[in-house]
Amino acid sequence: METNIDPFDRRITYLRVSVTDRCNLRCCYCVSADGLNPLPHSEILRYEEIIEIVRAATDLGIRKLRITGGEPLIRRDILPFIKLLAATPGIEEIGLTTNGILLKDMAGPLSDAGIKRINISLDTLNPLKFRKITLRDSFYKVMDGIAAATEAFSLVKLNMVVIRGVNDNEIPQFVELAMHHPYVVRFIECMPIGKSGFWDIRKVLTFDEIKSRIELLGSLHQVPSMADDGPSKRYRLKHAKGEIGIISPLSHNFCADCNRIRLTANGRLRPCLFSDHEIDIKGPVRSGCTHKGLTDLIQKAIAQKPRRHYAGLDQESHLCSMSMIGG
Ligand code: GTP
Ligand code: 5AD
Repeated sequence: METNIDPFDRRITYLRVSVTDRCNLRCCYCVSADGLNPLPHSEILRYEEIIEIVRAATDLGIRKLRITGGEPLIRRDILPFIKLLAATPGIEEIGLTTNGILLKDMAGPLSDAGIKRINISLDTLNPLKFRKITLRDSFYKVMDGIAAATEAFSLVKLNMVVIRGVNDNEIPQFVELAMHHPYVVRFIECMPIGKSGFWDIRKVLTFDEIKSRIELLGSLHQVPSMADDGPSKRYRLKHAKGEIGIISPLSHNFCADCNRIRLTANGRLRPCLFSDHEIDIKGPVRSGCTHKGLTDLIQKAIAQKPRRHYAGLDQESHLCSMSMIGG
């Protein structure tokens, strides 16, 4: 019988879709030392192919999508594509994770197209450091994008990848942001993913360290977890307009509650972010595989989810690049 329950009794309802491996930033923790090496366009799933896969996924009980990249907003015709996804029977919610550069003009149209949840990467509040981290001068565009998203969406989450010696001294400013604005500010442990050669255990601030740095500024009250919280542990600071989240894939993995699989930009189903094991679905979709055949492949990916990942604080991994997988 077809099911979205994996061998460890987790119900998989969430598909993360990377629509492009291309990006308009070159973040140090993401991009390979030798550049982005973009895939030929023919290797990237076409929108019609993604829709076919999503339709098959809904038959298995996938209800939530998140559009990622690379940077998803640089792909041409992303708005009509999102509209089509939003009209797909069975899809209840679509989120988007973006670096915010193009949001100034796109936030409103994205909301109209059916995006319900928006997460924006923001690793620094300093324009010069922004350039150092991303190799691009786009800080003010991102700020304008965040402002536009604040108008267009009821909730905006900001993702800060915390890196020792790079931006960890800005934890207080990000906490201030959550104090005075209705944002969910999420601090993320830097993960050893891709071939950037940047990752090093000494650069990682663990959950405990991040939390104790925040607690220097005020006491944190844990918000009871909700079913769709995802990987983030949620906290409130007294009198804050916003909320704090900490995402700790390394020191306290959240695999037991994992509810997701991934579709990479080059058309592979990826059962676990931290495992390079993937199942090709682009080949089958291009050679006329039936709807049932696609559903079977997605079920196979669900059945192959590992119990947990073993990326930790004591090992470096060189996995497929984040720009292909989408985080
Ligand atoms: P929502 O819960 O819907 O807000 O989404 P999210 O927080 O899962 O998505 P987002 O794209 O904003 O990712 C935030 C951080 O969590 C990024 O660093 C992701 O790489 C990381 N992340 C998301 N899902 C997983 C996962 O399954 N495993 C691990 N290890 N990290 C994840
Ligand atoms: N470690 C932690 N988070 C990462 N992201 C990208 N690379 C890493 C990494 N190595 C984050 C981005 C984005 C989200 C999709 O994943 O900052 O917010």
